[in-house]
Amino acid sequence: RKPVSLLGLRAMLAAGEKIAMLTAYDATFARAADDAGADCLLVGDSLGMVVQGGSSTVPVTLDEVAYHVRCVARGRRHAWLLADLPFGTYEESPEQALRSSAVLARAGAQMVKLEGGWTAETVHFLVERGIVVCAHLGLTPQSASALGGYRVQGRDEAAADRLVREARALADAGAAMLVLELVPAALARRVQQENPALVVIGIGAGGDVAGQVLVLHDMLGVTAGPLPRFVRDFGREGGGVHQALQRYVAAVKDRSFPEATQHTY
Ligand code: KIV
Ligand code: NA
Repeated sequence: RKPVSLLGLRAMLAAGEKIAMLTAYDATFARAADDAGADCLLVGDSLGMVVQGGSSTVPVTLDEVAYHVRCVARGRRHAWLLADLPFGTYEESPEQALRSSAVLARAGAQMVKLEGGWTAETVHFLVERGIVVCAHLGLTPQSASALGGYRVQGRDEAAADRLVREARALADAGAAMLVLELVPAALARRVQQENPALVVIGIGAGGDVAGQVLVLHDMLGVTAGPLPRFVRDFGREGGGVHQALQRYVAAVKDRSFPEATQHTY
């Protein structure tokens, strides 16, 4: 297997091959997910919850993400490696975003992800300076309090139209990838159709996008407490972690995950 590149991801999108992404936080699971065929590994600020035991992503710091990026980078072999810019490390100015992105790039991230429909100017600034950027719309966990909690976004027509406009602006600004979280499948499909070169990765956004992402601990069935509806527990069938990871990649590739009836809004 060749290392996954940005051009490779775009080629997969063009060819209709679904992209399988997982979060990763340490070298051992990064290697396991990579060996299972994951195309992308995301060092998500979800580490604030699944690694640190917090109740949101807000307290996570840049140094903490950088530490986990270094860990994952040592375990990774083929997968494309992206990392979250945590809350408070990019909102102040494009310059602040560049400084923070450089920290993650030095740690080994090939792409940085930031949240919100207001970020197009920052995305443009970063892309002009050689940073590869993933945007994130829909439910944006860093501002979950302002959104009224972990709720499906873009349900009414005005909110859907706004999200479509924001996605277009982010693509125009040079974002190569877009994570869409907790939005109706029809809205995610519309965003992908209107931006055919943008690699749209869904989580709780239906199957009509370039690929899927899940939080590792959720899809392994390790996370305590009830899982959101869009998650499938790939550990339930047994056989150990490696088989669960392989089942996830296979299910994304053959489009059996997500299921329209069970995992979609
Ligand atoms: O932090 C994270 O794990 C994420 C994904 C769920 C998209 O942002
Ligand atoms: Na995140």
